[in-house]
Amino acid sequence: MLKGKIALVTGGSRGIGAAVAKKLASLGADIAIIYAGSADAAEAVCSLIRKQYGVSANCYQCNVADYDAGRRTVSQIKSDFGTIDILVNNAGITKDGLIAMMKEDQFDDVIAVNLKGTFNMIKHCTGIFIRQRSGAIINMSSVTGIMGNAGQVNYAASKAGVIGLTKSIARELAPRGITCNAVAPGFIDTDMTKGLQDSPLAASIPLGRMGTAEEVAQAVAYLACASYVTGTVLQVDGGIAM
Ligand code: NAI
Repeated sequence: MLKGKIALVTGGSRGIGAAVAKKLASLGADIAIIYAGSADAAEAVCSLIRKQYGVSANCYQCNVADYDAGRRTVSQIKSDFGTIDILVNNAGITKDGLIAMMKEDQFDDVIAVNLKGTFNMIKHCTGIFIRQRSGAIINMSSVTGIMGNAGQVNYAASKAGVIGLTKSIARELAPRGITCNAVAPGFIDTDMTKGLQDSPLAASIPLGRMGTAEEVAQAVAYLACASYVTGTVLQVDGGIAM
């Protein structure tokens, strides 16, 4: 289904990003992974992808919040793979705290990675997409960006921002044959949510359990293939935000 396509997945060394990279590879796409810190984890994902799915996979260390580093990395990926067809902006962080306690840098850091990082990567890939008159952009938002969450004003603002950015990019680039959508996961069992399994919010999920990274990856794969869907926010949340 995605044979011959090149997919760039940010934050692909673990959690949802690793599951997305594997899912897109299972559909035939060649994979470029951007990771922040752990080269070993990123290389392990790439090596598994190459072995299991027989596609190309390379990993690149890059802080998506760094505009110039993002530009250099996208240019390196284009030179290694020839082009980029699918961009999945998955890299994200949390630095939670109640507003009374939250420090300025907690707010700035989360906006820098989650929102500005998404902008940076789209900005650097847009020229490639426009020239080839095709491209699929999928941005990782969160139900927190839709509902808000006490203790996460920084994270909720960043993820609500991702939704506004997604819809604006979708409108701007639709005439060029480029789609832009968001996925809004609920509570997904990854490193980011360690220790939240027994929280009252987790107990209020209508489907009665946390989601898996693979269940989010299915939604990303759908949006990577869907030619007539743009500007949408696909919730993968067990019904928590209906
Ligand atoms: P995770 O913490 O397991 O993985 C995050 C990934 O992003 C890691 O690979 C990390 O290296 C990378 N990353 C972090 N900062 C980076 C930077 N500055 N530059 C490049 N890469 C960076 O998180 P998880 O749970 O897999 O989350 C993935 C995405 O899904 C995030 O955007 C998160 O906000 C979002 N999400 C997760 C939910 C959950 O319940 N786990 C719920 C809703 C949204």
